[in-house]
Amino acid sequence: MLEATTLRDLAIFTGYSHIGSCREFVWIPGDVIGRKQLPSRFVIRGLTCEYEVEALMIRKDLYLRTETGKEYVVTNFQITDITDIENISGVAENCSLLFEKFPEMKTVSDGERVIISKQAQVMAFQAMSNVVNQVKAGHGIDPKGAREVTSLLVEEILKAPDAMMNLIDIKSFDDYTFTHNINVATLCLIIGQSMGLSQEDLFDLGLGGLLHDIGKLKVSLSILNKDGKLTDAEFTEMKRHPTYGYEILCRSKDISERARMVPLSHHEKFQGKGYPKGLKGEAIPLFGRICAIADVYDALTTDRPYRVAMAPHEAMKIVTSGIDTQFDPKILTVFLHKMSLYPSGSLVLLNDGSVGLVLKANPKTVLRPTIKLLKNAQGERLKTRTEIDLMKTSNLFIAGPANRNLLNVTTSKVG
Ligand SMILES: [Fe+2]
Repeated sequence: MLEATTLRDLAIFTGYSHIGSCREFVWIPGDVIGRKQLPSRFVIRGLTCEYEVEALMIRKDLYLRTETGKEYVVTNFQITDITDIENISGVAENCSLLFEKFPEMKTVSDGERVIISKQAQVMAFQAMSNVVNQVKAGHGIDPKGAREVTSLLVEEILKAPDAMMNLIDIKSFDDYTFTHNINVATLCLIIGQSMGLSQEDLFDLGLGGLLHDIGKLKVSLSILNKDGKLTDAEFTEMKRHPTYGYEILCRSKDISERARMVPLSHHEKFQGKGYPKGLKGEAIPLFGRICAIADVYDALTTDRPYRVAMAPHEAMKIVTSGIDTQFDPKILTVFLHKMSLYPSGSLVLLNDGSVGLVLKANPKTVLRPTIKLLKNAQGERLKTRTEIDLMKTSNLFIAGPANRNLLNVTTSKVG
């Protein structure tokens, strides 16, 4: 809980969350009555919100930055009063300094996973929030924050050269607008790094990835969030967002032409028939070809207003089906080898009906990790530790993910 000494400091906040950004956040610590700590209340003023007001009835983390530069996280805030959009109020369980809440601020790599640090995630929120506000206000954008985030992402990706990707780790925020941007930038960088791109190349690729959909800010929300098929006219407008994005970025001299080409070309298809130009093959800029894969994969694995997110292995099947038409096959191959479909700790169902726990992903073949067998084909729980390297078993393979609840096992207690 907040200490009284920091309260004055906390009274004026700029906040960032998946609901948008706010000009001022006032925290009112809950009283202690006897031994009982009442929940703290807060008021958010001047909220810039990306969504319909009804969508605010949620619980999530809110990131705050004081005027003195201190960063805090409010956990599990719940909006309780939305009658006055200028003064939204709610309750929250906790508020603590970001560094205290997330001691793992530095990149963590256990040799298999890349975890984008909270610091980078928060910076991305702030940077994107600023850019979004600038575009909405009709100003040219100042990409300073976006450049700083990209440098940090490149640094973090380069620190873990053999890392495989577990997307669950970077899906810490629910907000599609913000999460999607950072996910796409991260995926682009992972692919680019595997392809041996230089640090300078990675920077332009990452920055382009972060801003790839910036042109959507010029497309109306009723089209973007439409629950159902777009009309021809709506689809035509939607297809303008790459060009809008390019035009927005052209108004800033601190963004290279290579980075600007990412928004412009991320919907081109390798065999043609994409938009806006219908380019083919290597006529599509390399960074655009990389971003196309990252964009589609992340979109499929994220909840959208019109669709529930797919599991990584299902999304991977769809992405792979585009190998002959939509995507550059060489880049897609790099991507497939990098992705950890069944990350350590996930439960898998094998083709003979047995169930295993993934111990270690195999960088060469994502579908054949080393597993520990938990239940045999007859459904019996195994008492002795049986490890299987699926690379070495030709007749045994993963049929799909296993449902943890159904099995009544907790991965953290096993292994
Ligand atoms: Fe797009």
